Amino acid sequence: MQPDDHVCLCFRVSLRKLQNHLERERPTVASQLSECLGAGTGCGWCVPFLRRLHAQHVAGTLPALDESPEDYAARRTQYRAGRRHGTYDRPSSDPMASDPDRSPAPSVRVPLTQLRRGQRAIVDCSNLADLPEGERCLLHAMGMHDDCQLRVCSPGAPCIVQIDDTRLGISAEVARRIMVTPIEDGDRRAP
Ligand code: FES
Repeated sequence: MQPDDHVCLCFRVSLRKLQNHLERERPTVASQLSECLGAGTGCGWCVPFLRRLHAQHVAGTLPALDESPEDYAARRTQYRAGRRHGTYDRPSSDPMASDPDRSPAPSVRVPLTQLRRGQRAIVDCSNLADLPEGERCLLHAMGMHDDCQLRVCSPGAPCIVQIDDTRLGISAEVARRIMVTPIEDGDRRAP
């Protein structure tokens, strides 16, 4: 990949921009690369590559990726299609495959607004791509990223969800955009 090739294809963030951001901001954790034009906060494909770049920078080497841009883009297309249809099968050479933070691709997705109180689900943030960058980064900083797991504390507006130890209140407009795959039934009491 050359410096002007895009690592985050959702937000057209080039390798050069990421290299400059790493050099200038020296983020302590890879997730802070989302502050570089929202990198990694869309479909999630580039997240393991962002982690790789961050690790290279921490190790004192010039962050670089040896993927060809065409192959990289084609694999991301396959990843996105697989996520939509629940058929994405990560090959062993895929960096996602060895990424312990990411769970298997979901199969049935519904808007967050359709979950009941107590229900748990896996998140897909790809519909958040057109939110203002600040709002998207804030959600991401609070743990709302692709394949994270949430639990609905209180459905409605705002929709209160818990991600790890953090509770978030999400407006109905944003909750409608967040697609989730339920992973267990919550209680069936009315909200
Ligand atoms: S390619 Fe970076 S979030 Fe989709």
